[in-house]
Amino acid sequence: MKIIVIFGAPGAGKGTQAKKIAEKFNFTHISTGDMLRNEVANKTELGLKAKKYMNKGELVPDNVIIAMVEKTISELKNSQGIIFDGFPRTLTQAQNLDSMLNNNKLKISNVLYLDVPENTLINRLKKRAEIENRKDDAQISVVENRIKVYNKKTAPIIEYYNKNNKVTKINGVGEINSIFDRISNKINFEN
Ligand code: AP5
Ligand code: MG
Repeated sequence: MKIIVIFGAPGAGKGTQAKKIAEKFNFTHISTGDMLRNEVANKTELGLKAKKYMNKGELVPDNVIIAMVEKTISELKNSQGIIFDGFPRTLTQAQNLDSMLNNNKLKISNVLYLDVPENTLINRLKKRAEIENRKDDAQISVVENRIKVYNKKTAPIIEYYNKNNKVTKINGVGEINSIFDRISNKINFEN
């Protein structure tokens, strides 16, 4: 089973590309952001707790996220692969993912790092704020905080993956389909 992590800042296109990868390669798409928004919409205990962090653009605590992912992985059956989107986001999450996978005799094949400049990220999220109804896109201060939190807590974990030569940097600017071709080539190449 192939395990891919799609990595990048808020607005980098993780969700957009992960959906297309899941469709083309018949992978399971695991988006912690989508899972959390689902919990919030259903007003579950987890959702009520997570909402406070999400609305400020802060990270939801590691223990909550790790438990959620662990449960999802344990319920997976007969998948060709997994594409992780928005996870891991801290070193603790990255280390936990490795041990979860290791316990199942699996390992990450590739970390696809979507590289997009900050002004493009902000423009995309401003545009999405007009189309979708994501609370954390509505205020520019929250968008900026998400990018700040990404730079401080998430971007540094690329070093963890670099050590194992797992990172493929992909230019995340351009047409959605051209970016997808760049990614697909990389995944096919590994088959
Ligand atoms: P999450 O849902 O992961 O959001 P995010 O990281 O802020 O990223 P986005 O979903 O905004 O961006 P994306 O990279 O998916 O881009 P997209 O494809 O949508 O997390 C939300 C919150 O949940 C976090 O702040 C945190 O509180 C919590 N959380 C989630 N996971 C967590 C974890 N592991 N640990 C702790 N807390 C966690 O594209 C953006 C827009 O641009 C779209 O409108 C899209 O149509 C457009 N677009 C995409 N590609 C292109 C292109 N090539 N050209 C033009 N437009 C494009
Ligand atoms: Mg997303």
